[in-house]
Amino acid sequence: MKENENKKYYNKKINELKKHNKLYFEKSSPKISDKDYDNLKKEIFNLEKKYSYLKSASSPSNSLGYPPSKNFVKSKHRVKMLSLSNAFDYEDLENFEKKIFNYLNKKIELEYSVEPKIDGISASLTYKNGLLVMGTSRGDGTTGEVITENLKTINDIPQKITNKDFPNDIDIRGEVFIEKDDFNKLKNDFANPRNAASGSLRQKNPLETKKIPLNFVAYTYGYFKSDKIKKQSDFLSSLKEWGFKINEYNKVLKTIKDLEIFHKKFENDRFDLKYDVDGLVYKINNLDLQNRLGFTANSPRWAIAHKFSADSAYSIIKDINIQVGRTGALTPVARIKPVNIGGVVVSNATLHNEDEIIRKDIRLGDTVKVERAGDVIPHVVLVDLKKRKKKSKKFIFPNNCPSCGSETIKEFNKTTKKYDAVRRCTNEGYDCEKIAIEKIKHFISKDAMNIDGLGKKVVENFWDLNLIRFPQDIYNLDYNKISNLEGWGDLSVSNLKYSIDQSKKVSLDKFLYAIGIRHIGIENAKLLAEYIKSIKNFIILVNKDKLNEFLNIDGIGETQINSLKTFFENKSNYKIIEKLSSILNISDLKLNKDGKLLNNTFMFTGKLSNMSRAEAKSLIEENSGSVVSSVNKKLKYLIIGEKPTNRKVQKAKELGIKILSQKEWLNLLN
Ligand code: IVH
Repeated sequence: MKENENKKYYNKKINELKKHNKLYFEKSSPKISDKDYDNLKKEIFNLEKKYSYLKSASSPSNSLGYPPSKNFVKSKHRVKMLSLSNAFDYEDLENFEKKIFNYLNKKIELEYSVEPKIDGISASLTYKNGLLVMGTSRGDGTTGEVITENLKTINDIPQKITNKDFPNDIDIRGEVFIEKDDFNKLKNDFANPRNAASGSLRQKNPLETKKIPLNFVAYTYGYFKSDKIKKQSDFLSSLKEWGFKINEYNKVLKTIKDLEIFHKKFENDRFDLKYDVDGLVYKINNLDLQNRLGFTANSPRWAIAHKFSADSAYSIIKDINIQVGRTGALTPVARIKPVNIGGVVVSNATLHNEDEIIRKDIRLGDTVKVERAGDVIPHVVLVDLKKRKKKSKKFIFPNNCPSCGSETIKEFNKTTKKYDAVRRCTNEGYDCEKIAIEKIKHFISKDAMNIDGLGKKVVENFWDLNLIRFPQDIYNLDYNKISNLEGWGDLSVSNLKYSIDQSKKVSLDKFLYAIGIRHIGIENAKLLAEYIKSIKNFIILVNKDKLNEFLNIDGIGETQINSLKTFFENKSNYKIIEKLSSILNISDLKLNKDGKLLNNTFMFTGKLSNMSRAEAKSLIEENSGSVVSSVNKKLKYLIIGEKPTNRKVQKAKELGIKILSQKEWLNLLN
């Protein structure tokens, strides 16, 4: 669901960019300022960085300016530029070899040319009589773009070859790529090194290509006729003699067991390389055999790419910072040497909490395995102890909050009878700078006040400029000052103003969630809102010190009550609510008035199967019913799950309330 929303939003931004590109490049009549245009591009880059599944041919990552394909002449490859099929494990390799034996109709001893698969983009270079006459991109495999002048800016590509053995007509193929360190210098402009290479190579102006340090390694041929060269490994040696760079780790191996062993070792060692490698390519070394085996529709039968795991990588911990969250939780974050994990460059990884650091004995300078999957924040999985420096010292977790200096504590959990793994700053209010910033970020977030013109970065920026200190300051911003800030144009200021104004009308549950009381998440905020009905009632209860009343609500327990009490012990929190309630238009929960369950009240007892209480409650509310928290005459149905409370069932029977099983209740809804 989230993925879909992200894709929708991303495509919206890509379409905006396309529109403005057209206005600027084709019509020469831009409708937004350069600043706003750059911000739009940055937003797209950041989205691609964060979510690896976001891709578009029109992404600015693929080009620095307007998509250049129209600017290049096309050329049909003399020999198609095919891709490779992939293997992910030993079984895939066994199948690959089995297919070869089946095709040849016998089992023979094979020899493989093993080559690191650099993660860049492929190019084909046509040399006639020793001169580079044309260079093309892969394009769709059949036809490529003629990018000769751009390729000529790459130092590794020889333009004239005088070696007497060099064939007088040959296409040399290889990979164009950027080294990790060079990428890190430009990482604000591209999502990953591969995009950087591709974007730079397809520049309209070769001078733009020249600005970015690109490299080239050669690994195969397209058009080529030779009787002398019999093996791929010999072809690679010839490439070197002719003046091309080839990969330093190319080697020849015989059995798939050997391939597997080498792959395992290379998978770990690759992080020390200067460039990204996403797998190993295995090619049948004998060229006659390659010819016999030929191709399927898209890939050769004689080669396969054995990919590395796409969701983990090794890197080095450069620093450990302690982040302070909205509820005061101290989260240690490792700043790691940037590493490419499945196309996303990762430079931070969470270490979760103090206990986790102790358990894994994570130290500064350690080489660690980092995992990243989907939207989940990258985290450190293990330490490679073999690589630990002798002088390394244990990491000491700070006893005081790094933001405000307050004492930190680990709370005792009465239910589990254990101390929490998380250490917290004891400052619960807005006096701790980091907590305050995080509280404001929470306040504006999608499920809270939903002020989408005011992102997290903007909150940080406004905080630094002293424009906001408390949530209510958002409704009293100095827009004149903002419009003079870097990165803010008229359009973005008016968008901000609009979304702030829009947020003033808010439902009570969203507001209660937005103020950020610990243990009052979206669901609990709904429960409170339904119970108190209006913000006025809420303030009255707080003033009368009657928060215990909330214990009547099914789902609200001591944890929530204690948290509410602690929250209101801090007088600034009370003032914030008072101020906000005078600025905002806080409405009651919107109830659906035309569903099947209108005017019906329900109550649950016991555990429901395949469904949480929260989900069951939403289901009832979506159908206009309501859920109550005690058995009394107003209750119409008592729904019983597994192990119901006998007292409640008994009372319901006495009052003549209908008792339903979960199934019967769901039948009411069809
Ligand atoms: S051979 C028909 N060798 O991998 C085989 N490709 O999916 C043609 N690559 O487009 C490719 N290193 O960009 C070959 N040593 C290597 C390679 C390599 C990287 C890339 C290349 C190609 C893709 C195939």
